[in-house]
Amino acid sequence: MKVFADKILQDKVAFVTGGGTGITGGIARAFAEHGAKVAITSRKMENLEAMRQVIESKGGECFAIVSDVRDYEAVSNAIAETVKRFGKIDIVVNGAAGNFLCKAEELSSNGFGVVVDIDTKGTFNVCRAAFEELKKSKGQILNISATLHYLATPMQIHVSAAKAGVDAITRNLSVEWGRYGIRVNGIAPGPIEDTEGMRRLLPENMKEKLRERIPLQRFGKISDIENAALFLCSDAASYINGVTLVVDGGHWLTGTSFF
Ligand code: HXC
Repeated sequence: MKVFADKILQDKVAFVTGGGTGITGGIARAFAEHGAKVAITSRKMENLEAMRQVIESKGGECFAIVSDVRDYEAVSNAIAETVKRFGKIDIVVNGAAGNFLCKAEELSSNGFGVVVDIDTKGTFNVCRAAFEELKKSKGQILNISATLHYLATPMQIHVSAAKAGVDAITRNLSVEWGRYGIRVNGIAPGPIEDTEGMRRLLPENMKEKLRERIPLQRFGKISDIENAALFLCSDAASYINGVTLVVDGGHWLTGTSFF
């Protein structure tokens, strides 16, 4: 069900990392349905191609380009190609992320580093590479974070550290780039159904227990995150800067872990 005006993002151009699947795939599709032209990027063309077809089948405009957010040159190229294709960039959504469950005492240095590289350095790379375009458009950045690091989440030390870094980037850039008219915000989703994260992190036999711990008594839907993203990236949020909006049904406040 659409809750916003159809063309709320009319004439905007959005560059969405991790835009082929999951939460950020949903955000890309929702932005296109609300009038934006979207560029989606990730490591796998097959994921991007599938999402491009979904978006175009609904009458949207989509450009798919492969890049790994850990590779600054590749990201810069994807941004340049997007500008060549659509003329500008108004919105950057940083959704590319890595995750797996691993106890801290079993995690290798490389395993810790790979997630920080994708989530944290990748977010910085994309923001940095898009800066000149965002300055021209007085655009905005939306960073997808998590609530894992608000307390402590076992087997997620790498992701918790990485997402804490993402939140720091959101706050820092909102202060440093606010003067250019660039707004920088984030969303911290809770447990969202039908996502790679949930499939990887939550064993089927623990689902019901977790659901009961969520104050709203249900898992989030990708559309819950899409709606928060539409709000934050629309003019309705034009004075919101430096905020990471928690969209988790109240889960993290219960002080209970995912696992
Ligand atoms: C322990 C692991 C591991 C695992 C990888 N590593 N998987 N260690 N348990 N399951 C270690 C490897 O041993 C290696 O260290 C290092 O990590 C790099 O692994 P590679 O496979 O070479 O890296 P790469 O091919 O770059 O892949 C990185 C990846 C990626 C992070 C594993 O495949 C990935 O993230 N895929 C999932 C994408 C995903 O799920 N996205 C949704 C995220 S959900 P050594 O020492 O051996 O060299 C999300 C939500 C968070 O972020 C909040 C949820 C509530």
